[in-house]
Order: sequence, then C-alpha cells, then structure tokens
Amino acid sequence: MITVIGSINMDLVVQMDVFPKKGETVLGSLFTTVPGGKGANQAVAAARLGSKVKMLGAVGSDSFGTELRANLNEENIDTSLVMNTSGATGIANILLHESDNRIVVVPGANSKVSPEVIASAKTVIENSQLVVMQLEIPVETIKYSLNLCKELQVPVLFNPAPAANFDIEWMPYIKYLTPNETECALLFGDDVEAALEKYPNQLIVTLGEDGARYFDGTKHVHVKGFNTTAVDTTGAGDTFNGAFAHAITNGQSIEEAVFFANIAASLSVEKFGAQGGMPKLEDVIVRKEGAK
Ligand code: RIB
Repeated sequence: MITVIGSINMDLVVQMDVFPKKGETVLGSLFTTVPGGKGANQAVAAARLGSKVKMLGAVGSDSFGTELRANLNEENIDTSLVMNTSGATGIANILLHESDNRIVVVPGANSKVSPEVIASAKTVIENSQLVVMQLEIPVETIKYSLNLCKELQVPVLFNPAPAANFDIEWMPYIKYLTPNETECALLFGDDVEAALEKYPNQLIVTLGEDGARYFDGTKHVHVKGFNTTAVDTTGAGDTFNGAFAHAITNGQSIEEAVFFANIAASLSVEKFGAQGGMPKLEDVIVRKEGAK
C-alpha cells in the first residue's frame, strides 16, 4: 500500500492563444475546472495503475472540497484520512497556452495538514510500503512526516515541487528524490552530474520528453523518454512520480521503474487536465510493447 501525504487542489484552467505580459490583459479561449494538486495527482496516477493508495490531506467546506473527495473515491483511493476543514479548498490557477503552463497555487485547506494530522495516521504510515510527498503542504508537516517515516523505517519518495522550500538536510530521510532539471539546479547547483554522483540511486532527475537520469554508483544511467504530441503537460511530473511509486512497490528495479514512469508520463500529456491523461496499466503495457 502507498500512502500519499500532500495537496488536493481544484485546478482553474484558462486556455489562451498568448500568455499576458506584465500589466497586459488578453482574452482567453476556454475556462475549465478539473481535479488537481500534486498530492492528489500522484495518488491518482498510482491508483489508476492498480496500486492500493491512501491519501492524507485536507479539503475545505466549499463545493470544490466535496467534488475533489468524490473524485478521489471514484479513483479507488482511500480518503478516510482526508480531513474536512472549514474554509476554502486549495486551488491552482493555471494559464495554459499550447502545451505550456504557468501555475499559481493558493493552498487553502492544504495549509491545515498539520503534524498532529500525520501523528494520528502513524499506524497507516507504519503499514505503508512507500510514502509519497511533495511540497504543497506546510514545511513543519513535511519535517514531521520525514522524521516519522525514518523512525518507522518506511521509505519516502519525495518530489521537491515547488522546490523553493526544500531543505538539503532532508536527504538522509529520503529514499528517492525526483526533481526536474530546473528544480535540480535550484537545489544542487548547475552541475547535474556532480549532484547525481553525490546521491547514487537516490536522486532521479526528470527531463521531460527526454526521460530521466540517475547515477547507479558506477555509471550514469539515462532512461529514454517518449516523443509524443503533447496537449497539456500539467501533471506529467505527477504521473511520473505516481507511476514510479507503483512500479517500485511492485518489485521493479530503479531503471525499470523509471522506464515505466516515463511511458506513463508520455501518455498523460496526450489529454487535457492534470489527471485527464493518466494511464491505466494496460495503456502503459501497450506503449511498452510498441517501444520494443
Ligand atoms: O503538478 C501539477 C499540479 O500543480 C496541478 O494539478 C496544480 O494543482 C498544482 O498543484
């Protein structure tokens, strides 16, 4: 069983032909609300592939909260540890132009995921094969969760997004860290190879359609990505993480799990919405067979 500790957002997506510049107003072409939040997205990605997933997080007392909980339930995710809080559910304002995006998150209920909430879920965490985390909940909760996972000897897959609040001191508490190239540079500097060599089999840097890379202790490994026609790249990183979590908890090696996650991420960008294109296991298998 995988436990995801993280954010649950409603994504408010505006599609446009051109991004507005500073001080400029432009007309959008479409407005849509779809489920999102890095935590929820990663939970959905793993569950859709067949993993048993528990979500630890919070929604607000508005209609978004009700919708998002129902969405997680429909995806067969256990939401018994998703708190109902008073006030607003987290939202993400997403500007989408071609397949590129710009995102502003307002945490709302996500800021109420406290260390006490995590403490109350100790047994669930203890019984997890893997805990998956990102950085859209309070930093003190992240620190508490990392300590608890270490104490309980439960491995952590940590996706440092958004990267600003990540603390390198957390590395000994993390089994796999999965920044993208930009996040990696922000956290470890511009020398990716040096960073990878410092954290063998631990630091996995995602490269978008070029796949992902890591250092296995002896050599650098580049696991290829898949060229595809992207409609919306929102949630591609989340799909990678959810799929990696699924694969690694099903006994795959790091290289196999990264390959599997690359395929899942490539499928996810072919449809609109963070969760819209997340594949089922059969879809990944079909693309994998085609890649041989
Ligand atoms: O990673 C994509 C996600 O980031 C979106 O779904 C949005 O909610 C933000 O959290």
